[in-house]
Amino acid sequence: MDSHNTYWQDRAALEWQVELGVTDAILDAPLDRYDLDPAPVKPAPATEPVAPLAIPVIDPVDVARAAADAAVDLPSLAAAVAAYELCEIKRGARNAVFADGQPGARVMIVGEAPGREEDRAGRPFVGQAGQMLDRMLAAIDLGRAHGNKDRAVYITNVMPWRPPSNRTPDADEIAMMLPFLRRHIALADPQIIVLMGNTPCQALLGQKGITTLRGKWTEVSGKPCLPMFHPAYLLRNTAAKREAWTDLLALNVRLKT
Ligand code: URA
Repeated sequence: MDSHNTYWQDRAALEWQVELGVTDAILDAPLDRYDLDPAPVKPAPATEPVAPLAIPVIDPVDVARAAADAAVDLPSLAAAVAAYELCEIKRGARNAVFADGQPGARVMIVGEAPGREEDRAGRPFVGQAGQMLDRMLAAIDLGRAHGNKDRAVYITNVMPWRPPSNRTPDADEIAMMLPFLRRHIALADPQIIVLMGNTPCQALLGQKGITTLRGKWTEVSGKPCLPMFHPAYLLRNTAAKREAWTDLLALNVRLKT
C-alpha cells in the first residue's frame, strides 16, 4: 500500500472518530484497546455477613396501654389520645372528641363514637342523639352543665374519632382504644357508669346484646354500671323508650342511695 493510500485511509479513520465525538488525542501512538488483556477482576472486599433487618412488631394495644398509663390527669390523657396514631379511623376525622360535662361528676356516660356533628364540634353527643340524651338526663334532673355538682354527668365515647360513614368500630379498633377508656374511667373516677348501646358493652363488658343487657346492673372497674339503650336507637324505636324510662328511674334511685 503506498503512502498516498495510507494517508487517505488514516484521514478517513480520523474523520470517522471526530464524527463519533473524539475531540483530543491523548497518546502519541494509537492504542488498540480491543487488543489489550482484559483488566483483572478485583475480588470484592470481604464483608461480614449482613443479618436480616429485624423489623419491630408494634402492637397497637401495647402502645395504647403505655400511653394511657402514662397519663396522670384528664388533660394529659386527652393529649395522649390525640397523639395516638395507630387507629385508622383517626385518618378521616376532623377532631378528636374526648369528653364533655363535668369531670368528677357522679355519673359517667359512655357512648359509641362521634357522628358528623360531634366530629365538627369536637364534643360528644351534640347531634340529634345528643339532644335526646340531654332530654333523658333532664327527666331525672341530671345534666352535663347541671349547676348542682351532685346532678352533673361526664360524657365520653369508646371511640374518640368519627368512623367513616358512621360505621360501628370493629373489635380491633375497640381493643386499641380500650386502655384509654379504662384510664379515662380511673381518672374521672365516677360513682356510676352508664353504657349507651352495644359498643361500650362490647368494650367494657366483653358482651353484646343490649336488649338483654340493658337494665341489669353490673360492674366495670369495680363501679356499678348500667347498660341502657342508645339514644339514637330510641329515636328510631320509640316503643323502647318505655324500658329506657325504667332504666333512668333505676339510675336515679341508685344516685339517691
Ligand atoms: N353517638 C354516640 O355514641 N356518641 C356521640 O358522641 C354521638 C352519637
